[in-house]
Amino acid sequence: YPCDVIRNFSIIAHIDHGKSTLADRLLELTGTIQKKTSGKNEQVLDKLKVERERGITVKAQTASMVHNFQGKEYLLNLIDTPGHVDFAWEVSRSLAACQGALLLVDASQGVQAQSISVFHNARERGLKIIPVMNKIDLPAAQPERIAAQMQATFGIDPSEILSISAKTGKGVEAVLEAILRRVPPPVARAEAPLKAFLFDSFYDKYRGVISLVSLQDGVLRKGDKIASCHTRKKYEILELGVMHPEEAPTKSLNPGQVGYIACNMKQSSEAHIGDTLHRVGEAVEPMAGFQPAKAMVFAGVYPLENADFPKLEESINRLTLTDRSVTVQRESSTALGQGCRLGFLGTLHMDVFRQRLEDEYDANVIITAPTVPYKIIYKDREVVISNPTDFPDVADIGARVKEVQEPVVKASIIVPEEYFGEMMELCYSHRADELDHRYLDSGTTSSSRIMLNCIVPLSEIVSDFFDQLKSRSSGFASFDYEDAGYRKSDLAKMTFLLNGKPVDALALIVHRSAQETVGRQWVKKLHKVIPRQLFEVPIQAAIGKRVIARETLKALRADVTAGLYGGHYERKMKHLENQKEGKRRMKRMGTVDVPQEAFFDILSK
Ligand code: GTP
Repeated sequence: YPCDVIRNFSIIAHIDHGKSTLADRLLELTGTIQKKTSGKNEQVLDKLKVERERGITVKAQTASMVHNFQGKEYLLNLIDTPGHVDFAWEVSRSLAACQGALLLVDASQGVQAQSISVFHNARERGLKIIPVMNKIDLPAAQPERIAAQMQATFGIDPSEILSISAKTGKGVEAVLEAILRRVPPPVARAEAPLKAFLFDSFYDKYRGVISLVSLQDGVLRKGDKIASCHTRKKYEILELGVMHPEEAPTKSLNPGQVGYIACNMKQSSEAHIGDTLHRVGEAVEPMAGFQPAKAMVFAGVYPLENADFPKLEESINRLTLTDRSVTVQRESSTALGQGCRLGFLGTLHMDVFRQRLEDEYDANVIITAPTVPYKIIYKDREVVISNPTDFPDVADIGARVKEVQEPVVKASIIVPEEYFGEMMELCYSHRADELDHRYLDSGTTSSSRIMLNCIVPLSEIVSDFFDQLKSRSSGFASFDYEDAGYRKSDLAKMTFLLNGKPVDALALIVHRSAQETVGRQWVKKLHKVIPRQLFEVPIQAAIGKRVIARETLKALRADVTAGLYGGHYERKMKHLENQKEGKRRMKRMGTVDVPQEAFFDILSK
């Protein structure tokens, strides 16, 4: 396929606006996949099990299709992008491999927070944007109003908008035609030095890492020796081909094409998204803007039984083979023993990983409360910490430590006008700053939508922000955020003492303005989840040496076997067995048994 018949595009949309459904329709229309008759809503492109379960796209997937139009054969490469804010970086990379994008907007929901962020992302890259309004079959669809909204928000001419129903297939043919007509073909030269842009990778049990590349220049063949601009490591191409939608081997990948390569890459972490690959011995200018994925949420993972650590570590390593964006570091805790500190792109990413680990590990793990990275500015140096235990003592701040800083994000929220007050309150109660807002609908329609922007500490978002956003707006608010650097903040380490002994794994970083509330909340929570022991247990929250909250767990008296008539041995054993069951998910802290959920689920009431 020469460049002029190639079209590289992606579908960009807010979550649930129908990206995967449209992708399936396009694959069906071009005969790439069989039309499904089962009627089941199972998207082909969402491969991971967790994705299916949650109905969200976690990893970008790509497919090539061949389409005949007016007697000419075209090669269309669809680059699917993930739909969640945690993966904004992947969206950005996927877009770098395209020349055009379908901007999909739900005809009943209208423009949402991520529609805006992905639109800007695509426009900054100079992509041709084809506006598509989906779900016009819905009774609640408001095509005119949404078209006006798209015009007001994106400056899109309403006559350019394609109206479709990805579900029924109505109008999808016109989308294919628009891709051919409106998206420019890639510009690439066969004779120039090889330059392949790596925009995604996944892990295959048998072949190791499979990378998806877009050929900016040159031809790639089996047996070619290539090297990474970023790591300088060298590889040999063992297999290559196109995604159709599963891997279909070919003899070569030509300039302008998108395809997969398998080389002797063992770990997903070697496949750096955004990297440029070149032929060994040839020099090329790497593609601009490479940045390694940055972990923003950290949590400690420990086995319930200390002896299980090697097994746990192996599970973690196996899982990270397939997910390159998780960072792993060994750590140890006085309370929990040997464990690992994992770094994630965001909370959804963490939940997905946690679920996979628990599936694999039969839930016998303790996961500590999530934390964000903090910057500690000493007089002579700066360190970034990801474990609350490493946070300086309150007495040192202002003395040995000049200041502490926390990461902040620029958040945008889109809500119907009637929830505006609630959203303002939500933002203020989460330490938001620099609030401003504007109307998305021009004129005075009933129930206009408002976009609210503000700067919020990331730690606030990691806790309960998202859940509250959804519940306080009856599910109508949409939300997106991007990194906005670090800011000085008045923070302190809160420690918890059980029976007078600090439990390091429970330590938290809190903003001083919320220390009493948080302290009381946690102490109450611990009081609720820790079973009564044979002796009285004080549960205390402290900042430095000062205790700020306390609850007392009353002593337990009853012996479960006490009431049993001697000799009923079996019955007695069963009781003891039951008691053991109840303790299985506990960890002994000195003299106190603490259940798993004490470490993590503080905010899930
Ligand atoms: P993520 O992958 O999570 O970003 O979502 P998505 O944008 O891929 O959305 P998906 O294709 O999973 O569609 C979300 C829901 O909308 C599904 O329940 C679809 O069946 C439904 N849907 C998609 N297109 C249409 C449409 O044209 N009409 C109607 N009525 N429903 C649709």
